Amino acid sequence: MIMKNRILTGIRPTGPLHLGHYVGALQQWVPLQRNNECFFLIADYQAMTTHAEDPSLIRRSVRDVVLDWMSVGLNPHKRNVHFVLQSKVPELNQLYTLLSMVTPKSWIDQNPTVKAELATLKHAATLGFFDYPVSQAADILMMSFPNGDPRSEKLLVPVGEDQVPHLEATNRIARAFNRTYNNKVFTECRASVGEIGRLVGTDGQTKMSKSLGNAIMLSDSPEEVRRKVMSMFTDPKRIRPDIPGTVEGNPVFIYLDAFGKDKRKIDEYKRRYQKGTVGDVEVKKYLIETLEIFLTPIRIRRQLALRENMGTILESGTRAARKIAKITLNQALKAAGMDYEDLES
Ligand code: TRP
Repeated sequence: MIMKNRILTGIRPTGPLHLGHYVGALQQWVPLQRNNECFFLIADYQAMTTHAEDPSLIRRSVRDVVLDWMSVGLNPHKRNVHFVLQSKVPELNQLYTLLSMVTPKSWIDQNPTVKAELATLKHAATLGFFDYPVSQAADILMMSFPNGDPRSEKLLVPVGEDQVPHLEATNRIARAFNRTYNNKVFTECRASVGEIGRLVGTDGQTKMSKSLGNAIMLSDSPEEVRRKVMSMFTDPKRIRPDIPGTVEGNPVFIYLDAFGKDKRKIDEYKRRYQKGTVGDVEVKKYLIETLEIFLTPIRIRRQLALRENMGTILESGTRAARKIAKITLNQALKAAGMDYEDLES
């Protein structure tokens, strides 16, 4: 089969994945497996940039991410689908070193995602933290097409909207390298951002996040889902069901829109909510039903994935990525005059 594009995307293993990851990223990844060469990266070094003091969390999360990915339908048994463990690709560390030499520090200082994360860090930022956009550029650019490759494929990076500054930085770094060494080693990537880039938390905060305690996990049990939905934030004005409520920005309706299939029924609930003819509890019960329909096949696939050998899955995916990374790295070293072939004769 002819593959359309080369895809690389990734995630930090810092905990189990939640509905926000699904809406912002995973949902777009699954259909891409059909006719693209896909590399899904578990960025454990990048996880260390914020969680270096917690190796057991990262270890556990590598496994959780593989399970979560398989449970939503990513399939590493397809020949074109590869799960890659970042720390097992030493070429990435080498590429990162080369790229860091053409990246002005000011590009990092200006990066809005870095700035936002800096504000939430629990301890002083390390050098590794400031460098992670360059390391991410290496993740992506290792997948460059070889110099002079006539293929018209693209390097696509499907991500949530918070990652867009990193992809812009990646292309800027790629251009800087290519310009410095007058050599088209690196292919610029294209971002592909889903329709809904971000999901609000159960508390109505702008972002669902495990650390904010407002997340529903893909691996939550029916009891946990029920408990979390029943305590969800809705419209604080509505102390009685006959008070007209606000649908816009109400997380219960945002989730119904994101996960529900029956648009007519959802619209009906919205109308009744606005008129004040339905209670919060009834709408929440409908949301629980909706989420159960969504999560049931995910739970079934997780049970099957639990029987698989994670080590073998990551080994074979990582091997496939290294094959490409080696070619890119050799070209980059050569472009930078560091192949030293003349010294070997
Ligand atoms: N920064 C991404 C996140 O926080 C993870 C990531 C690492 C990534 N390398 C990547 C995303 C390469 C896209 C491409 O989730």
